[in-house]
Amino acid sequence: TPYETVLVERTGRTALLTLNRPGALNALNLRVMEEVVAATEALDRDPEIGCIVITGSAKAFAAGADIKEMQPQGYMDMYLSDWFGAWDRLGQVRTPTVAAVSGYALGGGCELAMLCDILLAADTAVFGQPEIKLGVIPGIGGSQRLTRAVGKAKAMDLCLTGRTMDATEAERAGLVSRVVPADRLLVEALAVAETVAGMSKPVAMMAKEAVDRAFETTLAEGVRFERRLFHAVFATADQKEGMSAFAEKRPPTFTHR
Ligand code: HXC
Repeated sequence: TPYETVLVERTGRTALLTLNRPGALNALNLRVMEEVVAATEALDRDPEIGCIVITGSAKAFAAGADIKEMQPQGYMDMYLSDWFGAWDRLGQVRTPTVAAVSGYALGGGCELAMLCDILLAADTAVFGQPEIKLGVIPGIGGSQRLTRAVGKAKAMDLCLTGRTMDATEAERAGLVSRVVPADRLLVEALAVAETVAGMSKPVAMMAKEAVDRAFETTLAEGVRFERRLFHAVFATADQKEGMSAFAEKRPPTFTHR
């Protein structure tokens, strides 16, 4: 791959993106951020890719934004460079994404995981927004996405005390889709990705868009939005194929059209 801090591997219709900054527990400096976003956007544009897995190492998904890089910055530096602004582009990715989290997912690491659609956690995973201990607050959406995921009670607890949650607590709170044994994490994440990538890509994109809309609008508007997309899927070849295959008692062969 052309990247220095991110490895990209492709298997069939799934892509695996591995954060690779082992000396700093995958701390997210500007280079990592640029590369993660660029690699994900490139895969998103590829019609042959149906699902993207983002993972780190056994010890750390990512231990947060790079504290040493941020330490000397002033307000004008942060504002003019739009520090963390590039991460917003990850939220615009239309291909479904899976975060496979082992070890530390702290600060920006937790925020990166929350930017993904499905969050698989190893039983070793540790989540938190410890920014307050550094004299700052979350800056990549943590105060918003964590609160939507787990509610005010736990979000305030985590953001104000800086304490961490283990995988069990995170799953109980609704932050995590599934918890798996650490040595199974990648196998399970790739299996989930393969399942998603085996669906019709445009229909999976619409399913993702519909769920995401729940965080942006009222219930009535969200249901109306879903209904429009639901009607729209009947314009796909894959709807005809999926329903024919069911009636004919055979597996569907989607053409992603
Ligand atoms: C820069 C980091 C880092 C980080 C770890 N390292 N986290 N460097 N930024 N966020 C570096 C260490 O300095 C060290 O480098 C190496 O990685 C190994 O880390 P250790 O601390 O030696 O490992 P360990 O003792 O096992 O402790 C692991 C840890 C601890 C508990 C995860 O590293 C830690 O607390 N990290 C910071 C977690 C954090 O506060 N994250 C939030 C960041 S703020 P050397 O060179 O010494 O070997 C954030 C803000 C987002 O994300 C937006 C608001 C601004």
